[in-house]
Amino acid sequence: MVELTIDGIKTRVEEGTTVLEAAKSMGIIIPTLCYYPGLSTYGECRVCMVEVKGRKSSLEASCTMPVESGLEIITGSDRVKKARKIVVELLVSSCPKSKKLQDLASMMAINKVRFRIKEKNCILCGRCIRYCKEQMQSGGIGFVGRGTARRVGTAFGVMPAECRHCGGCEWVCPVCELACNANNLVNGLCGGCQNLALVQTCEICVKCSEAVGPRGHKAY
Ligand code: SF4
Ligand code: SF4
Ligand code: FES
Repeated sequence: MVELTIDGIKTRVEEGTTVLEAAKSMGIIIPTLCYYPGLSTYGECRVCMVEVKGRKSSLEASCTMPVESGLEIITGSDRVKKARKIVVELLVSSCPKSKKLQDLASMMAINKVRFRIKEKNCILCGRCIRYCKEQMQSGGIGFVGRGTARRVGTAFGVMPAECRHCGGCEWVCPVCELACNANNLVNGLCGGCQNLALVQTCEICVKCSEAVGPRGHKAY
């Protein structure tokens, strides 16, 4: 077993557990995007960043970080919140029609997207590719292109023979799972979902996370 401290609380978890899983086992919610239960971790989106305290504290992706004895993790410091906000702002700017991203932006109290809106409809999280390969043993899709031309595609742009037409790649995609119906984006954000009203919290709110919506705490 490995002993570490998360948000000031000592915990013991099995070796090989990630910081994200350890926090989850304590009821601490860390937002994620490229992480998907049952799939290998990718560590690409950086939405799950946490602060690792030490002589030189650093921000690390909790979904790929294995626990270590004596680690001290802070999941919601000002530094973490600020960094996560910038990441989500960037992601919203590339996929403003993603309800998942708009919801995340709302939960993080982002009220303006300062980056140019690009409407790419893919955040390159790789969930679809990992699902196809690891769950369907198909592997018909993958990343193609480089740099800004990088996208999900198939060899020679044709339907791969290995495809089982399971629809799983769409099912796990955080961008296609539910389209945002907003017609009028305000500062890159969906006016319909923007949570401008005072939020309700649990009656015994201890400010455990920012995951607060109009109906109180919500796990995502
Ligand atoms: S529909 Fe085809 S490409 Fe998509 S996950 Fe299933 S097997 Fe893979
Ligand atoms: S298509 Fe969807 S699941 Fe696949 S990489 Fe892009 S955003 Fe992620
Ligand atoms: S959820 Fe951890 S980097 Fe994407």
